[in-house]
Amino acid sequence: MIGRVRFGRTELQVSRLALGGYPFGGVNRARGWDPFTAEGKAQAIRTIHAALDAGVNYIDTAPSYGDGQSERIIGEATSKRRTQFALASKVGYRGLSASDVRASIETSLQRLQTDHLDVIQFHGGMYEPQDVTHILSEGLLEELLRLRERGLVRATGFTVEEPWTARPLIASGQFDMVQVRYNLIYQSAALHVLNEAQAADLGVAVMRPMTSGMLQRIASYLAPEWQTAHDLYDAALKFVLADSRVHCANVGMRWPEEVQRNVALVESFQPNFDMARLPRLTAEIYRTEDQKEN
Ligand SMILES: NC(=O)c1ccc[n+]([C@@H]2O[C@H](COP(=O)([O-])OP(=O)(O)OC[C@H]3O[C@@H](n4cnc5c(N)ncnc54)[C@H](OP(=O)(O)O)[C@@H]3O)[C@@H](O)[C@H]2O)c1
Repeated sequence: MIGRVRFGRTELQVSRLALGGYPFGGVNRARGWDPFTAEGKAQAIRTIHAALDAGVNYIDTAPSYGDGQSERIIGEATSKRRTQFALASKVGYRGLSASDVRASIETSLQRLQTDHLDVIQFHGGMYEPQDVTHILSEGLLEELLRLRERGLVRATGFTVEEPWTARPLIASGQFDMVQVRYNLIYQSAALHVLNEAQAADLGVAVMRPMTSGMLQRIASYLAPEWQTAHDLYDAALKFVLADSRVHCANVGMRWPEEVQRNVALVESFQPNFDMARLPRLTAEIYRTEDQKEN
């Protein structure tokens, strides 16, 4: 069975491999993928069951994934298995009032066929100072806290693509978790946000752990000889799991075979080096290597 870890101060116990919900709302006809068709939906539901059957117990989705389709499919697949996993969804903030936030979350709950979200995240890319003010001081965070009192949501968090822009949100002390972009080719979070999240005892989920296929696509142009089977996917997943500051990786998986492959990797992987300690700045690299010589 896949290992579980404490998800920071949320006190959830989460599997290190989590199911990212984007594919259940995204169409890719070139790959024969359309979750808006009956067959596509059935395929997505099979993948969700494969993940839960294999011990994945955290699912991440958002109302914007296919204009609610990801939430609808997850709701349909899991309504009878709701106690077996933690459910995370999201809510916007730009141009939204507190009552818009409440309405969005209530609609998510209906689509997801549940009475509560274990995690609610502000759905962010890059937080401008005015976004931080809007969230923290103009009623949005307060609304989440009211919904938490009513039991509609449990842990509070946010997602962030450009990690440094999340620093004021972490420093506010108001959140329980963060979902951050961090992977083999985008390591900005390693320098600050992952340390700050760990110090604040936040749950840390990683988005785009497989680089959203970017590393693999770039390699197919520049170094096609690297593409031996699934090596680049495996290396990407191992990289985030080998960082002691990361609790779980939200991987986008469309097919049960992908779930099974990733579960097998997570079950067998024993990191022999903590990527949190990887020297990333030139002076650190010189110092570390110089110390090895002496
Ligand atoms: N701002 C935000 O909140 C935000 C932004 C982005 C993502 N996210 C979350 O993070 C999740 C993951 O992001 P993502 O889907 O962009 O990136 P990802 O997980 O890094 O990459 C997904 C890609 O990896 C492939 N893949 C997965 N396992 C594989 C395996 N074993 N072998 C070969 N290929 C494999 C998938 O292939 P196929 O295409 O063949 O299925 C897919 O193309 C999303 O679903 C979402 O939940 C959140």
